[in-house]
Amino acid sequence: MSAEAFDFLPLLPKDLPPPAIKWRGSPKYNFTGGNNDAEQIPLDGLVVAADAVLRREGRSLATYGLTSGPQGYRPLREFLAAKLKRDAGIACSYDDILLVSGSLQALDLVNGALLARGDTVIIEQESYQGALTRLARLGVNAVGIPLDADGMRMDALAAALEDLKRRRIRPKYVYVIPTVQNPTGTIMSEERRLTLLKLSEGYGVPIFEDDCYADLTWDGRRPPAIHAMSKSGGVIHIGSFSKSVAPALRVGFILAGWEMLSRMLALKIDAGSGGLEQMVLAEYCAKHFVEHVPKLARGLRAKLDALMDALNEHFGTAAEFEDPKGGIFLWVKLPDGVDTLKLYQSALAAGVAINPGPEWSTDPTHSRSRMRLCFASPSREQIRAGIAALAEVCHKEFGVPERIANVGRRARGP
Ligand SMILES: Cc1ncc(COP(=O)(O)O)c(C=O)c1O
Repeated sequence: MSAEAFDFLPLLPKDLPPPAIKWRGSPKYNFTGGNNDAEQIPLDGLVVAADAVLRREGRSLATYGLTSGPQGYRPLREFLAAKLKRDAGIACSYDDILLVSGSLQALDLVNGALLARGDTVIIEQESYQGALTRLARLGVNAVGIPLDADGMRMDALAAALEDLKRRRIRPKYVYVIPTVQNPTGTIMSEERRLTLLKLSEGYGVPIFEDDCYADLTWDGRRPPAIHAMSKSGGVIHIGSFSKSVAPALRVGFILAGWEMLSRMLALKIDAGSGGLEQMVLAEYCAKHFVEHVPKLARGLRAKLDALMDALNEHFGTAAEFEDPKGGIFLWVKLPDGVDTLKLYQSALAAGVAINPGPEWSTDPTHSRSRMRLCFASPSREQIRAGIAALAEVCHKEFGVPERIANVGRRARGP
């Protein structure tokens, strides 16, 4: 038997996830994923930082964990502790922070420490696909709570907690993305954060706060983190440099008390996350983070404006959306007849990639005609051309938008 013909199939465990689909390059117009703006990667600053830190401390790469121990490069944890205090109101020490390989690893570690098959968690009805698929894979029941313009609805959360209590179910956590929610772009008000904390403490259910977009608000302001407002210590807070600097660096963090951090550290069996990335980030961020982020946010806002203009031009009233308060996504409602899972297929064939709503929700019926568009990575020209192409496909498949190349657009031209 040749090596190519070897059959691994009978050897695979039964509960293995389905195989990955082979990557065949990016579509021409890519509105998917959480990618950032290539033009805004602070290359010069990163090059200088890499040069300086490697010359000064490069020999520490000889040691797993550098010379900072298993929680990650200490200067980056010190930067984070100071930043969390300044921006999110969190009083913590570098010692309360564990650096991980992107906040996806943070999700895995928090889940690994808290969840078992058959458990229940509470989550925003529209939420991060990476969180939803993990819960499904773990066999965990995710109870979705609807959102409005102020984030997760507290009346619905209170009702869900009461209902679960009646059924003797204690959820393992309430997962929220309170500051620039993915995919809806909302920011949970301070008042709601207080109510959430009260409910969490009243029902003995911890809060899992995912704050990875919190740096990217248009006006640079944000409410205090839920972690900062908690007096009980029942909040696990995670964040990332993916959205504020670059996702391919794969650097995220977990902030939690030692009781839980020690459990998660015991589950992190990869001998530490990439040390070079942590060193370069620490060197770069100490000097430049505060000026880099507002510049990045201004660029993202300009791209969002280009996207909303393109949708208004090509979809007219057929595309409904709220102006998000920051971030890199627009959550769009199309007319009820549009099935975005189908639209996804035909748009992809035409070179346009979108994220269909049902993949970002615990209620696929509610999100059937919704889609998420990432505006950070396509250029403004790609945004305009890609939305025009999407409108063509949508019109052909579902008859909406009713007029394509509409009068309004022609009337504006010379
Ligand atoms: C809400 C949320 N959490 C976590 C992540 C994971 O990000 P990373 O692993 O790059 O930090 C993402 C990525 O898009 C996200 O949207």
